[in-house]
Amino acid sequence: MNENGITVRNKKIAVLPGDGIGPEIVREALKVLKAVEQVFGHRFDTGTYPVGGCAHDLCGSCLPEETLEACKCADAVLLGAVGGPKWDALPGEERPERALLGLRGGLGLFANLRPAKIWPSLKGASPLKPEIVSGGIDILVVRELTGGIYFGAHRRSADGKSACDEMVYSDSEVERIAKVAFECAKSRGKKVTSVDKANVLESSRLWRAIVGRVSKEYPDVVLDHMYVDNAAMQLVRDPARFDVLLTENMFGDILSDEASQITGSIGMLPSASLRLDGFGMYEPIHGSAPDIAGKNIANPLATILSVAMMLRSTFSLHREADAVEEAVSKVLDSGLRTSDLAAPGASIVGTAQMGDAVTEAVLKMVK
Ligand code: IPM
Ligand code: MG
Repeated sequence: MNENGITVRNKKIAVLPGDGIGPEIVREALKVLKAVEQVFGHRFDTGTYPVGGCAHDLCGSCLPEETLEACKCADAVLLGAVGGPKWDALPGEERPERALLGLRGGLGLFANLRPAKIWPSLKGASPLKPEIVSGGIDILVVRELTGGIYFGAHRRSADGKSACDEMVYSDSEVERIAKVAFECAKSRGKKVTSVDKANVLESSRLWRAIVGRVSKEYPDVVLDHMYVDNAAMQLVRDPARFDVLLTENMFGDILSDEASQITGSIGMLPSASLRLDGFGMYEPIHGSAPDIAGKNIANPLATILSVAMMLRSTFSLHREADAVEEAVSKVLDSGLRTSDLAAPGASIVGTAQMGDAVTEAVLKMVK
């Protein structure tokens, strides 16, 4: 009940730790969320549900109906990672990765935001030459997430000798993701680079036409178009030229991995998958890293930063989101690193210690 006698329900978060390192990194992110509750006086209700290979082991499906329902009833979803060699032999339709697509499609999460930036204290971690990254990198990949080749028909001929995956886009699908990109650009560097393969693909020609039309509604934002092969090259040649990089589902999958690597470690990059009503699923962009699972060496920062994105995008808690990002920045400045970011002079800590350090830094913040 609030002061006006109206019952206010706590915000609900469905937590899906998943496989491999998923549970350990999500544990640290929840520690940080608890600190935010404490410092800022919020209450979030969290419920944990199985997804991925562990869900398959438990109940025969990587995306159990109850998990999808719980997500639909929540305000936001926090996901760790899914998949691992144990489930590689499962048929395509049953693989853990299908759970991700089921969540994206089932929840209508068409807009995937993947910010790739270099943290000041991690400049040395980029594999690019210092002169290329000296001006900083701050790219937001806006990836269409519920259309294109991922969601088109996948067919194999009766004799098994040929296969086909359809890439389909409708004008309305392109329009809504383009609007998201232009809206994001308005509050950033005011530049959208739309990536396609319009010299070959018909779906890309439609994409380019619609993006061009939407851009007319945003006179303050500069638009340029780039072929995907060139974009892959420019990302390593001159990454600072990019602000918002808008692209379709599969190109976005590939380019966001590339963008993450030039920032130093894929272990740092969060993501948000959104629809228009503010509901979102938040997850690190890296995978389940089964080779290092359970060893307390995974980097939890991408998941912690995904919580910051959740606070900002779904709950409009901007100061809280800033506080988490500032805490991460302080911890990095103090020299603490997980082993993926090992560098001379750094103090290497484990997953839990990194989570504790960020939690402490949040708790030290004055409201
Ligand atoms: C990602 C992943 C997924 C994708 C896989 C696991 C289905 O690579 O989120 O980038 O291709 O979208
Ligand atoms: Mg990917």
